[in-house]
Amino acid sequence: MEDNGKTIPRHVAIILDGNGRYAKAHGLPRRLGHKAGCDNLETLVEDAADLGIEILTVYGFSTENWKRSDEEVGALMTLFRIYLKRLRKVAAAKNVKVTAIGEVSRFSADIREALAELEAATKDNTRMRFVIAINYGARDELTRAARRLAAQAAAGELDPASITEETIAGALDTADLPDPDLLIRTGGEQRLSNYLLWQSAYTEFYFTEVLWPDFHREQLEEAIEEYGRRNRRYGGR
Ligand code: IPE
Ligand code: IPE
Ligand code: MG
Repeated sequence: MEDNGKTIPRHVAIILDGNGRYAKAHGLPRRLGHKAGCDNLETLVEDAADLGIEILTVYGFSTENWKRSDEEVGALMTLFRIYLKRLRKVAAAKNVKVTAIGEVSRFSADIREALAELEAATKDNTRMRFVIAINYGARDELTRAARRLAAQAAAGELDPASITEETIAGALDTADLPDPDLLIRTGGEQRLSNYLLWQSAYTEFYFTEVLWPDFHREQLEEAIEEYGRRNRRYGGR
């Protein structure tokens, strides 16, 4: 998308990392680093909508994050409860439709309900799509898709020879989304950590040392400017 001569990526994916290190740097318990991260996400969703991003897909909790201490997982669940409710206001104010990807059935009933209510309340909003990846892992997503397609084949509903890349893309949690144009990872690590493996085949990557709670509109605009200077190719000449 062209906006005042700037190329705005249509779909931005973010791996929000560095909450723990932010807490440590400020002498805070980890849970307050996550709280600062949630506060930042709330404002960044608004900024992304204002900047004209069509789809924002944020990695909030991975299938591997259950390995953290009970205390930290518990603190994250508490924050989900609070922020899934607060997001309703943000989504209403900015006309944002919110959906989730990941295996949400593993969450407690109240979190699943808060998520379902948020999705229902925002389903007709049109300005931006905000996708929260929770209990998301790309390998888990592909495994679930393979299981579903195999079951259809076993039932005689799907001819294995007819399976195309589109069939697989359509069986993923992101079936109704275009692939991300730009993937940002904050916090200095340069890896995907099991995020959007299939979908990021031709995504531009942007890594920054900035810790997630310090990643604001200015930093997002810098990433978008850098994206605008990239020469996207898809394997052709
Ligand atoms: C990212 O921050 C948030 C989640 C993974 C839930 P981290 O908690 O991974 O922060 P660091 O990497 O330890 O600094
Ligand atoms: C990736 O961050 C997951 C989320 C941001 C939700 P992690 O901090 O869990 O990833 P690793 O352990 O550094 O790869
Ligand atoms: Mg981390």
